[in-house]
This record gives sequence, C-alpha cells and structure tokens, in this order.
Amino acid sequence: MDKLVIRGGRRISGCITASGSKNTSLPIIAATLLTGNGTFSLHNIPDLKDILTFTQLLHHLGAETSFSGNTLTVSSRNVKSLQAPYELVKKMRASIYVLGPLLARFGHARVSLPGGCAFGPRPIDLHLMAMEKLGATITIETGFIDATVKGGKLQGAHIDFPISSVGATGNALMAAVLAEGTTTISNAAMEPEIETLCKFLTAMGATIRGTGSTELQIEGTDSLNAIEFHNVFDRIETGTLLAAAAITGGDITVNGVDPEQLKAVLKKFIHAGCSVETTVSSVTLKSPEKLLSTDVTAKPYPAFPTDMQAQWIALMTQAEGISHIIDKVYHERFNHIPELNRLGAHIDIRKNQAVVHGPQKLSGTTVMSTDLRASASLVLAGLVAEGTSEVLRVYHLDRGYEKIETKLNSLGADITREKYIEF
Ligand code: EPZ
Repeated sequence: MDKLVIRGGRRISGCITASGSKNTSLPIIAATLLTGNGTFSLHNIPDLKDILTFTQLLHHLGAETSFSGNTLTVSSRNVKSLQAPYELVKKMRASIYVLGPLLARFGHARVSLPGGCAFGPRPIDLHLMAMEKLGATITIETGFIDATVKGGKLQGAHIDFPISSVGATGNALMAAVLAEGTTTISNAAMEPEIETLCKFLTAMGATIRGTGSTELQIEGTDSLNAIEFHNVFDRIETGTLLAAAAITGGDITVNGVDPEQLKAVLKKFIHAGCSVETTVSSVTLKSPEKLLSTDVTAKPYPAFPTDMQAQWIALMTQAEGISHIIDKVYHERFNHIPELNRLGAHIDIRKNQAVVHGPQKLSGTTVMSTDLRASASLVLAGLVAEGTSEVLRVYHLDRGYEKIETKLNSLGADITREKYIEF
C-alpha cells in the first residue's frame, strides 16, 4: 500500500494546469454505451483509478477501450453482457451510471447494488424511481438491481426529483435520450458535470432543452453517434490546489479552468482574506498575512460544493477565529475531523455542524485516509504541519487526484510516496 510522507512548513507557490474532471468523465464514459455507431475519442480524461475501474467495467460489458496521454477511445459496438458485477461496482459507486444507458439501448440491465461509503449511506432510490417512471420494471434480488423494459423501449415521462441528485439526473438523462417520446426532468441537478453531460449527449445527436438549468426536456431519438469530445477541467482539484496555496501562505495560478464554475468557492477564499484574480481560463490566488475564519454551508450547485467541505475545514484550522461548516448534502461527511484533530487541530462536531477553532498550530504525525476528499484535507494539513506527516491509504486520494504529489512538489512542497505494509 502507498503512503504520502509530507515535510510541512513549505509555501505552495507557482503555476499549474488543472486536470480533466473526474466527475464529468464518469458519466460521459457511461454514455458511450448508448451507441455502437463509431468510436469515441474522449480527450482530457484524467489518469485516475476510478477511470481505470470504469474502463474495466466497459471491457466486462464487451466494449473496447484504449487510454493514452489522457485520451480515452471507446467502441461499444460489441457490447453483449448487460451485467455490472459486484467486484467492480464495489470499487466505484459511479458504476451505477451504466444502468440508464444499458436499459435505454438494450432494454435490460443488471447492476450490482453499490455498497455504502465512508461518509454515510449513498442511496440510489432516485435512480430507480427515474427508470421506473420511464417504464422499466425493477426487481432487487441477491444484491443485484435487475431492470427490464417490456417491448424493449423506454417511454418518455415526467421525472420530478424530490431532491437534487447528480447521479440520478445523469442516469435519467442517459435513459431518456433513447426513450420513445418526450421526457421532462424537474429539479435536475445543475452541477457542471450534468451541464457537460447534456452537451456531450447533444453532440451525439440527442435533443435536450434547458441545458444548465433545473428543468430539462429530452426528445427521445432512435440512434446516436460516437463523437470526439474534450472534457472540462476538474473544479474540485482546482479548489484543492487553491487551498494548498492559501493554507501555506503561498500564491498560485491555476490554468485551464472556468472560474464561473468556482464562483461560490472563490467568494469564500476572498471572505477568508485571500486576493483572487481571474481571467477567462485561470484563477490566481494570493494568501493573506492572516486567514480569517469563514463559515460555509455545502449545498447543491451553484452553492459551495460538498466535495470542497473537508478541504475547507483543513484551511480553517489556520484561520483567526471560529468557523462553522455545515454539509447539507452529506450530513455525516466529517471522517476527516478526528484525523485533523490528531494533527493538533481543535474541531468540534455538533450535530451536522463542524466548529473549527483557529488558528491552531499543527504538528506532523501519521494519519489515516478514510475517503477521497478526507484524504485531500489531510494532505493540506500535512503541508502546514510542523515536521513530517504520513498520510496512509493513499489509494483513496488516487481515485480523484492525478499525480497530486508531483503537482504539489512542482509548487514547492516536499512530498514522497512510499510503500508500506498495513498489519
Ligand atoms: C456525485 O455523487 C459526486 N460523484 C460526488 O463526488 C458528490 O459529492 C455528489 O455528486 C454531490 O455533489 C460523482 O459525480 C461520481 P448525489 P452522487 O446523487 O451522484 C442523496 C467525490 O468526492 N441521494 O448528487 O452519488 C444522497 O444521499 C464524490 O468526487 C438519494 O437520496 O451524489 C445525497 O444526500 C463523493 N437518493 C444527495 O442525494 C439517490 O438515489 C446528493 O447525492 C441518490 C442520491
């Protein structure tokens, strides 16, 4: 297993280019299952474990893929198997994204129920509700979702989501594009991942109105075509890199980004005393002498994203005063807090609110990653902690950050990746 050994106290400064978005890559890779017409070329796909897991799932289904230099080519012409096995789904919950496309194209799909995850139950009831609205019959047995469509064709319907769900919106979209008739999706997630998926499906030949809004209207079509597509930047990796500069008293320019997608996050950095300048494709952040405590409530887009909540808590350990952080998306997404406190932070959890007392000097020690963004927050804390920190179970980090230690070392960090054995 790998750990990151971080020698703290060094400023993060300089220029870096953001990688492609993981959370956009996953649904657009799933969407390649919608057609056997041609071969997809997907550019700016990050080289991450989750991407590898998804391509393994596509291979299992019979698709052909190849990945080099951040370009993924996919042909789904020969997809035969319609079953997503537990061994792959348990590694990555986003495997549920194959449900909609397989059901839409083949009228049948069998997907293992995804496990839970470190920060609480991750239900999929809204995914299943959407498929049933479109005419699927769903049974759950022996840990599998078995979805079939009588007559083989989904029927357009009105899907009204009671809460905003990125994944369920994505699955509903990918099912509706090949359904008979019109589908409307109300309370659709507005995250950039969904907006980009709408653009991707439209480029494939789908008819979608309302892209970028919470009301989507899809005219089903008979067939779609493979396309060449350039994936968008990763907004969460970008926010994490900005936080690395802010927590170490440094300054950074991140290129290849759309600042519009980071508005709520940039506003909070400014409130915390950072200076932030943007161009159409970059963000420059300079950290202040003193960081100021800043409250955050994580909510669906365009609000402050839950995927930046753990990183923000790490940052606020260095801010003057008390910060209150609430996560309205995942109420228990606080596994990083006990580990941050082991580094010397003073963070209380009261119901679904974290109360961060700062500034608190952190001292390096060994800490355990529990999930992707929790491990990012531990790396941020290690960058500012005195002495050496070791972040264990870095496989969590590798799911969502492409060569993070290489990137941070190019900006002045001192991080080495080392093997270790866990007893
Ligand atoms: C996506 O997960 C992201 N993952 C998550 O990022 C992100 O935290 C989340 O959206 C919220 O922005 C990918 O895009 C691969 P949801 P998803 O459905 O789609 C509840 C990361 O760190 N819900 O928008 O699974 C759910 O419990 C990951 O990159 C239901 O109740 O999230 C949550 O409270 C972690 N029933 C809320 O909706 C359902 O059927 C939002 O979840 C589905 C969701």
